[in-house]
Amino acid sequence: MASVDTLIVSAPGATCAPELADGPWTFDLGTPGYGPGASMGDVIPTGSPRQGQLPVEYQQATGAQLHDRIRAAKDTLGDRVVILGHFYQRDEVVQHADFLGDSFQLANAAQTVPNAEAIVFCGVHFMAETADILAREGQAVILPNLAAGCSMADMADIDSVRECWEQLEALYGTEPDAEGRVPVIPVTYMNSSAALKGFCGEHGGIVCTSSNAATVLEWAFERGQRVLFFPDQHLGRNTAKAMGVPLEQMPMWNPHKPFGGNDAEALSDARVILWHGFCSVHKRFTVAQVEQARLDFPGVRVIVHPECPTAVVDAADEAGSTEYIRRAIAAATEPTTFAVGTEINMVNRLASEFPQHTIFCLDPVVCPCSTMYRIHPGYLAWVLEALVRGEVLNQISVPDDVAVPARVALERMLAAKPVI
Ligand code: 13P
Ligand code: SF4
Repeated sequence: MASVDTLIVSAPGATCAPELADGPWTFDLGTPGYGPGASMGDVIPTGSPRQGQLPVEYQQATGAQLHDRIRAAKDTLGDRVVILGHFYQRDEVVQHADFLGDSFQLANAAQTVPNAEAIVFCGVHFMAETADILAREGQAVILPNLAAGCSMADMADIDSVRECWEQLEALYGTEPDAEGRVPVIPVTYMNSSAALKGFCGEHGGIVCTSSNAATVLEWAFERGQRVLFFPDQHLGRNTAKAMGVPLEQMPMWNPHKPFGGNDAEALSDARVILWHGFCSVHKRFTVAQVEQARLDFPGVRVIVHPECPTAVVDAADEAGSTEYIRRAIAAATEPTTFAVGTEINMVNRLASEFPQHTIFCLDPVVCPCSTMYRIHPGYLAWVLEALVRGEVLNQISVPDDVAVPARVALERMLAAKPVI
């Protein structure tokens, strides 16, 4: 199967944003925003990192030239550099990754390469921050394009979460119950800023990824009467629902309204308070697409990511993290048809990796995560060649006052093994 890059260039009508074919540098200096793609309608917060202009030689190089330059720089650097790649990265980047994985695996990988001087993170900003927090002192973590953010992560900011926390403390107090459980435990999805991870570390909370969310919620319920879950409402709702928490006990917190738009009774009964955040890529999946897949391919196995809305998760056969999806397909012994509800780069790669199966994306429109897509091979070549010259570009450094408590919350998370 052709890489998503090739599809976008050769069949622009089949994509949600034909502009993606132009190369991310077209958007670097334009209007601040997430650029084309599923997150086009999301508002980028002021103060988000901006990427300067990529030198023209990298913009104009062909795919083959960039490939050779990346290879050559990597060969020269040897063990001094490690490239981490998320499953949603384009194939043209993934082929250079030393580790490919989901966000939990990549956070672990960042800790396993203490000898490397630099970790080049081909993923999004919150992942690079996490790697910096977990990496050895003195290691440089590099994000090849600073504009590779995550619109969902940006939906919860530290000031709004602090305001929410103050309101919850005013309502619930801070005293533990007879079993020693505090009124609320904050849980942040990995897809969040380092500041929110630090907040969780300071307030007895924890980080989760989509692969260990159930284990993390169990951890939180052992210590708290309820959970404040941010920023992804869908992961929080889908995970808690599967654990038996009724939907009525999961009010949503809208940061623009007093008490999140809830009355005191709903908040007293709450088990999980869900922040009003979502992923614009996974929000595209619908129950109608699941029904269509079942109609077109009787016997199809539908697997979706838990960032999808609950109705879609309910209509699917299974839901799980990107690594869960990969393992489920790898474990199928008989030729099977899989309809997958997650990012298109990963789905197409699985289709090439497992040709004995029929694997397709539930969404018929080619719509990559536009922020993951900011990591074009041109930026990877640029940062690697700079390292060869002894220059560190685009370093992500989390200040100690944030990194120290964030590390506490991340270490709690790393101890909570994924249920895969
Ligand atoms: P995973 O934790 O499954 O890698 O997902 C990360 C992500 O950003 C999904 O949109
Ligand atoms: Fe963020 Fe969604 Fe992209 Fe994942 S797929 S990085 S949650 S915007």
